Amino acid sequence: MQALRRTAMTNAIAFDVYGTLIDTQAVSSRLAELIGDKAPAISRAWRQKQLEYSFRRGLMRDYCDFSVCTREALVFACRDAAVDISEAAVEQAMQAYADLDAFADVRPGLELLRSDGFSLYAFSNGSRQAVERLLQRAEIGDYFTGIVSVEDVQSFKPDPQVYAHLVRVCGVPAASVYLVSGNPFDVLGAANAGLRTAWLRRDPNAVFDPWGVEPDITSGSFSNIASDIQTACNAIVPRDSNIHNSEVG
Ligand code: 2OP
Repeated sequence: MQALRRTAMTNAIAFDVYGTLIDTQAVSSRLAELIGDKAPAISRAWRQKQLEYSFRRGLMRDYCDFSVCTREALVFACRDAAVDISEAAVEQAMQAYADLDAFADVRPGLELLRSDGFSLYAFSNGSRQAVERLLQRAEIGDYFTGIVSVEDVQSFKPDPQVYAHLVRVCGVPAASVYLVSGNPFDVLGAANAGLRTAWLRRDPNAVFDPWGVEPDITSGSFSNIASDIQTACNAIVPRDSNIHNSEVG
């Protein structure tokens, strides 16, 4: 029986941006300068509320630029903690979101995958403009074939529409697209839409949602995720497997 080979040419890899490619820790540090010792708790509440606002707006079909969710979530988190924050301080905290670096392990992992022929995409709730600017400033923009922003379909992750849009842009079947994310909600959203998934579990204490759906790949480092995807995609698979993206090896 002739074996079939998946190849990098028949697979695409999409990467979540904030917290996966880009380290958002600097935002928390900047916030501490602006509001003092309550910053760590407020920073966590800020991220949770930012995502909650995007989930709500997706369900309400009331799309807005993700930066609006981010800004309004910060104001909420400060009010909820009874911390006064000036409009100027809000603007400075928001500016910190534009001045972020890539995690140190990202560049080597992207280099490995690009040199193996994979098409790489940045996939984000952030607007195309915000993500382009962020990736260029973090000096990783040149690794990507394209940027896919949810603004193209006016909704947010984990709406199945945004993953369907990503798959259309990648130009291969959903089962040939890997979604790499540090966010379990994003991994589950992609799996729900038929994509393959890789959970980047940078925090060893992070817990995955008990939904009975596990990531195809889980690792604590970007480099390991990259090599695991490379191994999985370059595997020899039997003809009768249920894949749709293989090519004759
Ligand atoms: C993203 O970049 C919010 O991390 C999420 O889409």
